[in-house]
Amino acid sequence: MLTKKPLAKTDVALSQLALGTVKFGRNQSVKYPTAFDLPTDSQMADLILNALDHGITTLDTAPAYGIAEQRLGEFLKKSKCRHSLTLISKAGESYDTQSDSSHYDYSIKSLEKQLENSLRTLNTDYLDVWLLHSDGQDVQNLTDEVITLFDKKKQSGLVRATGMSTKTVEGGERALTFFDCIMMAASLDYPAENSLFDYAEDQGKSILLKKIFNSGHALTTDNKQATLKATFSTLFAHNSLCSAVIGTTNPKHLQENIDALTGKTI
Ligand SMILES: NC(=O)c1ccc[n+]([C@@H]2O[C@H](COP(=O)([O-])OP(=O)(O)OC[C@H]3O[C@@H](n4cnc5c(N)ncnc54)[C@H](OP(=O)(O)O)[C@@H]3O)[C@@H](O)[C@H]2O)c1
Repeated sequence: MLTKKPLAKTDVALSQLALGTVKFGRNQSVKYPTAFDLPTDSQMADLILNALDHGITTLDTAPAYGIAEQRLGEFLKKSKCRHSLTLISKAGESYDTQSDSSHYDYSIKSLEKQLENSLRTLNTDYLDVWLLHSDGQDVQNLTDEVITLFDKKKQSGLVRATGMSTKTVEGGERALTFFDCIMMAASLDYPAENSLFDYAEDQGKSILLKKIFNSGHALTTDNKQATLKATFSTLFAHNSLCSAVIGTTNPKHLQENIDALTGKTI
């Protein structure tokens, strides 16, 4: 069984592994090694319930993940398990399936509208973690007005913790100064932003990880089991790591990842 860890100094606790939902909602313009079909509603529900049974209580989504928020909202309504889960969503990026393109808008009006939409679509009255989504211009996008907006939403109770999904060390440092956490990429192949682990620890803040398998490319080799174990032992050595988001739609892969993290023989 996986455990939970408190997110910085908030009263939110996230599971060590979180389930990423890009592949629940979108299969165009994504960077995975192979093409894939979206899971059916029952495959998706089984996967989430299976994850929950193993202590994976955190789901990571975003308006930019195609129909993922909509599908999760329907699942949450039917399953009635909102309060067993912690939900992470984001604002700043939207994705249009028809034109297959992303659009970024960091205006206060647009961010507020996206939060309202996420809450309505997910059938919930609060998010556990709300992140500013990144277009790569982290420092420029994290304006004083945006920081004030995120603080305001936290004070109002619409979100329980704030953060930013970052792509740069400078942006990560700025976000960790003002928010509870960042979501950054780190994997055996991509250590470029690893200085942020210590920075976060010094600030009493938390790190969430994305792309720990380099979007699956790290696992296309013959020594997959060794890569899984090395990934978890390397990344979970950092005290500031709160939760690593893994993107899978395959129950066998989910189990392999849990086993690799918990040290079971695989
Ligand atoms: N904030 C952001 O800007 C941002 C950006 C990217 C991602 N994210 C979040 O992070 C999550 C994860 O990112 P990601 O999906 O790009 O990267 P990832 O977790 O590094 O890789 C996911 C890929 O690895 C494969 N995989 C997982 N476990 C496996 C196993 N045991 N054996 C073989 N293949 C395995 C998955 O395929 P199968 O489905 O076949 O298992 C999937 O194609 C996303 O879903 C999203 O929630 C956030």
